[in-house]
Amino acid sequence: MRQKIVAGNWKMNTTLDEGIILVKECLERIDGPADNTKVILVPPFYLLKDAVLLVKGRSSIHVGAQNCYEADSGAFTGEISAPMIRSVGAEYVIVGHSERRKYFGDTDERIARKIDSVLKEGLSPIFCCGEELPARQSDQQENVVENQIRKALYHLNGDQLQRVIIAYEPVWAIGTGQTASPQQAQDMHAFIRDLLARLFTQEIADEITILYGGSCKPSNAEELFAQKDVDGGLIGGASLNANDFSAIVKEL
Ligand code: PGA
Repeated sequence: MRQKIVAGNWKMNTTLDEGIILVKECLERIDGPADNTKVILVPPFYLLKDAVLLVKGRSSIHVGAQNCYEADSGAFTGEISAPMIRSVGAEYVIVGHSERRKYFGDTDERIARKIDSVLKEGLSPIFCCGEELPARQSDQQENVVENQIRKALYHLNGDQLQRVIIAYEPVWAIGTGQTASPQQAQDMHAFIRDLLARLFTQEIADEITILYGGSCKPSNAEELFAQKDVDGGLIGGASLNANDFSAIVKEL
């Protein structure tokens, strides 16, 4: 049975003190979660170690990083590598977020190399894909997402793919308050699962967790998570409020 997950991507928010308070508030408010469900907190890098120590003893709550560089070490000023992330005890890394693609020039090819470096370290990538508004308006969303998935994941073997979490995040829904409708989300998630079944096997495709991201909040999480192929959410803005985030976790 595939895993259900809610991950909170804090983006570039919270100072050290604020972040520690937010982790503690999340831990107080999230009970469980239930069997087969997982919560992943994804704070900025400088909070990873504190977050890992704070979640210790809560077996279903994990910590991830928002990005990494593709090389393990070297003269890459300002970058953080997968071995560094593993060394502080984080287990997941978001790769290919649309903000990285848009503002920091992450190409499909670089994203594929980052995925490799995350997997090599024994960590799990949370791979983000999703179309921009003009693609949705011209009904090209499936082509865009298929292309992103082929370029980032097609070179993996089945064992590697099973360690990848996919997040479908239509760019027009991120931070805009505009959410994909439950049907739009379900249609794309089913398309992604079919694509993975064609590229790999049906068994593998059935086991992959596919999250929805883009203005997911307590008021729409239930309907989105009720869709057959939506296995949880990647939450941005609402993950900065422990009440909202824990309410979304309850909908899993
Ligand atoms: P949002 O962000 O929930 O604020 O739309 C989602 C994301 O970027 O992962």
